[in-house]
Amino acid sequence: MNDIIERLVRPEIRALRAYHVPEAGGFVKLDAMENPYAWPEDFKAEWLETLRAVEPNRYPDPQGTELQQALRAAMEIPHEMGLLLGNGSDELIQMLAMTVAAPGRKVLAVEPGFVMYRMIGLFAGMDYVGVPLQAEDFSIDLPATLEAIEREQPALVYLAYPNNPTGNRFDADDMVRIIEAAPGLVIVDEAYAPFTDSSFMGLLGDWPNLLVMRTVSKMGLAGLRLGYLVGPRPWIEEIDKVRLPYNVNVLTQVSATFALRHKAVLDEQTHSIRAERVHLFEALARIPGIHAYPSEANFILVRMPAGTADSVFAGLKERRILIKNLNGAHPMLANCLRLTVGLPQENAALIEALADLVHG
Ligand SMILES: Cc1ncc(COP(=O)(O)O)c(C=O)c1O
Repeated sequence: MNDIIERLVRPEIRALRAYHVPEAGGFVKLDAMENPYAWPEDFKAEWLETLRAVEPNRYPDPQGTELQQALRAAMEIPHEMGLLLGNGSDELIQMLAMTVAAPGRKVLAVEPGFVMYRMIGLFAGMDYVGVPLQAEDFSIDLPATLEAIEREQPALVYLAYPNNPTGNRFDADDMVRIIEAAPGLVIVDEAYAPFTDSSFMGLLGDWPNLLVMRTVSKMGLAGLRLGYLVGPRPWIEEIDKVRLPYNVNVLTQVSATFALRHKAVLDEQTHSIRAERVHLFEALARIPGIHAYPSEANFILVRMPAGTADSVFAGLKERRILIKNLNGAHPMLANCLRLTVGLPQENAALIEALADLVHG
């Protein structure tokens, strides 16, 4: 069998390992940028009532018309822009790649960044170009990025705003320079929009190659798998052609529509997360030897004393606290851990354990 696999599976796919999600049962889960707050009971009861109307024997609305209307209203999507729904924004990244992929076509992103830009580009047969951010504060290295764009002529450029896993928000003027220099599409990925006050949504239409991508995952609906892409209608119409029919299932359509119509409940939760982020950052800053990077997302990147990240990660795991170990993920992330902002008591437990593991 191995010889057939070697003959048929592309070498770049064989070289990969499948996306690994650690077993998290019984853990304080601070690894995946989820909203930790449960839904209030009365809210949950009302939601369950709306599910009564669902007909699981029927295919869902292929366009998700009601959900699109709810999103447009809740997210202030400019009415002249097109809107495309995906099974998570991961699926939108896949659709974008499938729309433009051809031998030699390139996808460019700044690094360290969200790994799926590179992975999905690779799945679609595109070449990937990573441009390092500036080491001291993870800001964009504008001359290097513009030079790479000029040299590589990428079909797709991704800028996460704020960035994962670094948590910072790039300079908007730098982003504009990149949009103006890019020969292809620039996708501003606003996955962490609920945790910052800045957005490119209002600038859509100023440039023909700008798209804004978002997800409902981080605002509290990660289990539903829903992402959305907004941009000039001619672009959205082309990308819609590679979308699989019925890509957003009926339970997601109904549940997300319900949640978006009651967005105040989720807004209250994301505001609490923002307030907790401040407390967590201050507490981290008080632990000698740990450097916390400023964040406009729902997580904080920390650099640990040299040589300790792996053992601290393991020590937290022993205490049933799961975070993301980024040591080894990228040269600029040596000794780094990423901590999702959790409930106040979860953050307190994390801080106590970290202080103990570093200095205990
Ligand atoms: C920058 C960024 N974009 C997109 C995603 C994917 O989100 P979704 O859950 O919608 O697939 C993530 C998830 O971590 C992310 O960090």
